[in-house]
Order: sequence, then structure tokens, then C-alpha cells
Amino acid sequence: MKFFIDTANLNEIKEANDMGILDGVTTNPSLMAKEGITGAQNILNHYVAICNIVDGPVSAEVIATDFEGMVKEGEQLAALHKNIVVKIPMIPEGIKAIKYFSGKGIKTNCTLIFSAGQALLAAKAGATYISPFLGRLDDVSTDGLALIEQIRTIYDNYVFQTEILAASVRHPMHIIHCAEIGADVMTGPLNAIKALAKHPLTDLGLQQFLADYAKGNQ
Ligand code: E4P
Repeated sequence: MKFFIDTANLNEIKEANDMGILDGVTTNPSLMAKEGITGAQNILNHYVAICNIVDGPVSAEVIATDFEGMVKEGEQLAALHKNIVVKIPMIPEGIKAIKYFSGKGIKTNCTLIFSAGQALLAAKAGATYISPFLGRLDDVSTDGLALIEQIRTIYDNYVFQTEILAASVRHPMHIIHCAEIGADVMTGPLNAIKALAKHPLTDLGLQQFLADYAKGNQ
């Protein structure tokens, strides 16, 4: 399973990249705003800054919601760097834009997926990735992981090449379950990724090894 980090924070992106396990980055307008990145040109510059840190797909979201607007913005985003993936919302105009970009060889990430039907449509339009938001489904008492499992079955039935990018990941158990189900990619916050490394028995064991080494080398 590929690991993407879901943030626009350059320090967090650097930290995850330095760990050597980072495959890509996802952003959205809310994550940009959280870092205080506003204004069209600053946002474009920020995408380039992210691409200069990570050698992997970087999702950059369009703001337009009409076909022509999405195409214009998406082409501008794709021209920024070879690793940019144009992120497009799951709306009918978005499906048309995904189909258009697919024909041009421009990679897309269909975002705000909350149902299997939406995932099926996006795959038929040729999306490179689809982003089911599992945490947001869990937030409204709906099983987000069950949706990812359902999409996995559908995509495998018809050998769709579209990759399932499990999004809105909130904690390490989400990551582990996504790997069990067979999500192609997960995108989550740095703390959820780092939490995978933690185990109290590892800490205790290491403490003991170091203490024993110190005793023998006094
Ligand atoms: C996905 O690409 C989105 O940016 C993201 O995963 C949404 O996560 P949230 O529900 O934690 O905002």
C-alpha cells in the first residue's frame, strides 16, 4: 500500500519524506487555508514547493465546479510539475472533466467519494485515483471501511485500473484496516503514520538492551 500524507504543511511533508516511506501528498483547499496559504498565485507556488520535496504524486484541487472552469484550472495545475495530479470533485461536471483529462493523459484524483456508485462512475470516466473519505463516513455512523471493501470488490470484478486512495484517515487502525482490505493508497496525517511505529514493548525492550549494554561496558 502506498503512503501519501494529507497536509499542506511543508515541515510535516519533509519529516514524512525523510522517513523514507512517503509515496505522495494530498492537499485540499481547507488544508491550504489551515497553513495560511491564500491567493491563487501563492497556492500555485505552494504546490511547486511540495513537488520539490516529494518525488511522487501531489494532488492539487480545482476550485471551479463547471466543466470549462475545471479544464482550465486543471491544465494550469498539471503544467506546474510532472507529479501534479488534478483533484476533481465527484459531481457530474467533474466526471466530464475526468474523462477529458483521461483522454489527455493527465492524472486525476476524484475526491469526495461517499458511495460505491460514485466510485464506479469515476472509474468508468478513467480517474487515476478515487478518494473515499472513510473518516467522514465514520463521523456520521456509517462504516467507511465497508465502503472501501465494496469498491475493492467492484474494481476487482472488472479489473479497473483506478486506484483506491483511502482518504480522511484519522488513526493508525484505519491505516492497518485499509492495508488488510487492499486499498492501493492511504492518505493520512503525520501523527497517524508515526503512530504505526509505536509499541510500549519496543520501548521497554530497547531500554533494557541499552541498560544491559551499559552495565557490560562500564
Ligand atoms: C483527501 O484527499 C482529503 O484531503 C482528506 O483526506 C480529508 O480528510 P478530513 O476528513 O480529515 O478532512
